Amino acid sequence: MELDGLSDHEYIKIRDLLFKESGISLGSGKKTLVAGRLFKRIQSLQLNSYSDYIARLVSGDDLVELQTAIDLLTTNETYFFREPKHFEMLTEIAKKAPKGKNFRVWSAACSTGEEVYTIAMCLQELTRLGHCPNWEARGSDLSQRVLEKAAAALYGIERTDGIAPDLMRRYFLQGSGPYEGFILVDRKLREKVEFAQINLILPLPELVPFDVIFLRNALIYFEIPEKRKIVTQLLSVLAPEGVLFVGLAESLNGVVEGLVQIGPGAYRVDRRR
Ligand SMILES: C[S@@+](CC[C@H](N)C(=O)[O-])C[C@H]1O[C@@H](n2cnc3c(N)ncnc32)[C@H](O)[C@@H]1O
Repeated sequence: MELDGLSDHEYIKIRDLLFKESGISLGSGKKTLVAGRLFKRIQSLQLNSYSDYIARLVSGDDLVELQTAIDLLTTNETYFFREPKHFEMLTEIAKKAPKGKNFRVWSAACSTGEEVYTIAMCLQELTRLGHCPNWEARGSDLSQRVLEKAAAALYGIERTDGIAPDLMRRYFLQGSGPYEGFILVDRKLREKVEFAQINLILPLPELVPFDVIFLRNALIYFEIPEKRKIVTQLLSVLAPEGVLFVGLAESLNGVVEGLVQIGPGAYRVDRRR
């Protein structure tokens, strides 16, 4: 079936819907990207036009399809040990944490889970060496599709470039037979990791404070008011001496007051204020 192209009017409707549901702001140059991301889905539903699809999304009668559209429209690029400086810092912070305490880390826009399992590897390495005996890592995202992949903990071998060979040996199982070419995260990490769907633009669920929060490479999709709302909420569940990481290309200058930068993309609440 042939689909007419996405009109400007239809694009604006999708853009507004995505903003309403996620807070994400799509710039004007994203029309082709949006059309491409939704095209196959519309064809597989045997709908005749983008307008028919939009009508279904805005009707409020098909929340499953709305989630599917959000899944398709979010950008989920991620990889193991992305921006490695932050994992060095995490290791230093966790090493100094009181041993009797549960050290808690949250990856608040975790995509397919590589960031969470990288955190888990760093913390488990500390445990192995006699530091940080108790830790938990949490991952959340808006997209259900990426969370399912994260929970499955199964990755293509080509995605493991950033992982040192000794960590590969300790924390991954090599697939065989139908799983040839895949690796599975070891159970000892999976047991300490949990995933949940959390939309950062909505009020947060009740959460126990975290020692470290990762919010990396997500803020770039938001305008200042939404960035401010998201960061303010995250700070409300950051432990008093906790650290918030954002992506190295992101900055919290002009977003929220009262933070001190302690490293590239790393912030603490300024307790002197
Ligand atoms: C580019 S990925 C970043 C993944 C990882 N943090 C990293 O740095 O590699 C951005 C993630 O933000 C998520 N996201 C976008 N809007 C969100 C929202 N309102 N609430 C929660 N997650 C959101 C997307 O679904 C996507 O998986």
